[in-house]
Amino acid sequence: MSESSTQIQGLRERLIDELSPLTSLSPDALGIVDAEARLREVNDVRVRLTGKRSEIAGLKKAIGQVEPEQRAEFAQAVLSLEREITETIYSLESALSAHITVLKVERERLDVTIPGRRPRTGHLHPITILRQRIEDIFVSMGYAIEDDREIETDYYNFDALNIPGDHPARESQDTFYTTDGLALRSQTSTVQIRAMERRGVPIRILAPGKVYRRDTPDMTHTPMFHQLEGLCVDKGITMAHLKGTVTEWLRRLFGPDTRTRFRPSYFPFTEPSAEFDFSCFVCHGSGKVGDDRCRPCKGSGWIELGGSGMVHPNVLRACGVDPTVYSGFAFGFGLERMAAMMFNIDDIRHLFENDVRFLEQFR
Ligand code: DAH
Repeated sequence: MSESSTQIQGLRERLIDELSPLTSLSPDALGIVDAEARLREVNDVRVRLTGKRSEIAGLKKAIGQVEPEQRAEFAQAVLSLEREITETIYSLESALSAHITVLKVERERLDVTIPGRRPRTGHLHPITILRQRIEDIFVSMGYAIEDDREIETDYYNFDALNIPGDHPARESQDTFYTTDGLALRSQTSTVQIRAMERRGVPIRILAPGKVYRRDTPDMTHTPMFHQLEGLCVDKGITMAHLKGTVTEWLRRLFGPDTRTRFRPSYFPFTEPSAEFDFSCFVCHGSGKVGDDRCRPCKGSGWIELGGSGMVHPNVLRACGVDPTVYSGFAFGFGLERMAAMMFNIDDIRHLFENDVRFLEQFR
């Protein structure tokens, strides 16, 4: 064997040796990060073993200096070594690339048959649902929805409503006071005054909102609750309009066979005054469900709902309205009690504890 072919043989052995850590390992067990690192390593090796400054490149340059008789043999040996090493490296690279592709496809695979995750959608609170249903009825009867402040002065909460400072009605509506003469309103009747001052008469409004009383929470009381207040003032308004309006909206809410009744009562801001009841929406007035006592009306056939009456002349005067020309009716009732009955809720505190397991029942 010539000296030069011994030299090439030696180089071949070294190169094969250098490649052996890479060729002896299968890429199959590698994760994506390791496989990519290995691919970079193979690339470095390729540059080192076959690049411009590699030993093989040096031998190729030397071909011209070899004695003519040996030149062909030498050139063949160098080129065949170059081909062998290049091919080995190429097959390493392609095995790694193929493996990386498989891993990427696996990682980015999208299974369109997996059932989607349903987002949890919110829904309205039962009090809001009921309030909106009643608002819709009144809007269809030509009423405007009136929203107003929850923090009030004594004047709007009491005096303008014909409840002077020493009036006993103030006691039953004791509320929360601030240090500077303001209080949380104890009734939505305040909006009667605000709305008449702002809009004048004739007027037809429905005022829903939060009211506050100094009550200890129990199954039927919370210190904050909701009321709906109605007010209609025009020329020639009588008690018949009051009865007709209350009966109509209750029929639209509970069905056409709903009956109403008015019991004489007293409120400082109405004269005459009446409380109104409606025939039970479960037993329709019989007081019985099968052989059992009807629950919502406690067997009476009637459900007490709220207060009403003809707006007191002093209230009209307080708003600058002449009671010899205008008359009107007003009514007010609480939403929690009504919601508790309609949705069969035994404790109204549930309505404000914001436990979604409870609220979710009223979608
Ligand atoms: N504001 C009264 C209350 O909180 C309810 C009420 C009664 C409102 C008679 C009225 C009315 O407008 O005319 O108990």
